[in-house]
Amino acid sequence: MIDRILVVGAGAMGSQISLVCALAGHRVTLYDIDADRLTAAHGDIAELVAGRVHKGRISAGEGEATLSRIEVTSELDAARTVDYVVEAAVEQLDVKRELFARLDALVPEHAILASNSSGFVPSQLAEATQRQDRVCNLHFFNPAMVMTCVEVVRGPQTSDATIDVTVALAERIGKTPVVLDREIPGFVANRILGAVRDEAISLLEGDFASVEAIDTACRTALGYPMGPFELMDLTGIDIGYFTKRARFAESGDPADAPSRSVTALVERGELGRKSGLGWYAYTADGTKTPR
Ligand code: 3HC
Repeated sequence: MIDRILVVGAGAMGSQISLVCALAGHRVTLYDIDADRLTAAHGDIAELVAGRVHKGRISAGEGEATLSRIEVTSELDAARTVDYVVEAAVEQLDVKRELFARLDALVPEHAILASNSSGFVPSQLAEATQRQDRVCNLHFFNPAMVMTCVEVVRGPQTSDATIDVTVALAERIGKTPVVLDREIPGFVANRILGAVRDEAISLLEGDFASVEAIDTACRTALGYPMGPFELMDLTGIDIGYFTKRARFAESGDPADAPSRSVTALVERGELGRKSGLGWYAYTADGTKTPR
């Protein structure tokens, strides 16, 4: 039975994963090494709760109770008392492996270590631990408050019990688990999304269509809620960049390398909505304008 959950990484995903779990009644600790990021995450979470109260989705009392179930910390020692960990740190394998090794030494024997990564598969992270049967991926989609799918991925050593507990947790927090019994980087949804995004970038770099034209076509012809460039700005251009860079480092296949235009944006720190500039420009209130 899972009560206490540790979420590692207070970015947009970690913050919303924490809130989703707390809304379902779990006690959540949100950990990050960066105190400023924790403060910002706490503010974002409080704002999302206030929004739900305002819309009448939950009562003011439920909102307060939800917030009281979330604590933030920059001490990884908090891992000592948790039943389940969702790691949502930066998409860099060395960082994640170091975290998994440290978490493995801290968490109770029964605890499960799950990663929100879609670029790295469970076996790459499990190798850093002494609990390979209790490691899997639990991959959320952005915005995690809204998107109902989670991918639950089994590595070669992951036990049935770990998958069962993870599926039960996903259902309890209101998500629809899609279980993959074999590892493949990107899993299902991001592989399909990646193919669309690569084609969109190739049309742009080939000077066949503009960012706005491609996004408009995807929304109005294909019924996508957002075009691929709008979506990259939402999820963070650096996320896809790091994932592709890691895949290229492994495969050496030029088709896996980050594209010229994405690399240029990342090098300029133009990472999408979170930095105010990406494929589009954003005002402080989040309004989007073409560049
Ligand atoms: N955070 C939290 N909640 C948000 C949000 C955000 N960033 N953006 C919108 N919402 C909420 C709103 O509050 C609203 O909630 P309500 O129903 O309780 O009132 C609801 O979403 C709908 O919002 P809006 O009416 O303002 O806007 P839209 O109807 O245009 O929906 C959207 C916004 C849900 C983001 C929609 O455009 C969408 O589904 N976009 C595609 C998202 C997507 O494809 N995500 C997957 C990305 S891939 C990924 O995450 C993988 C990872 O590995 C990178």
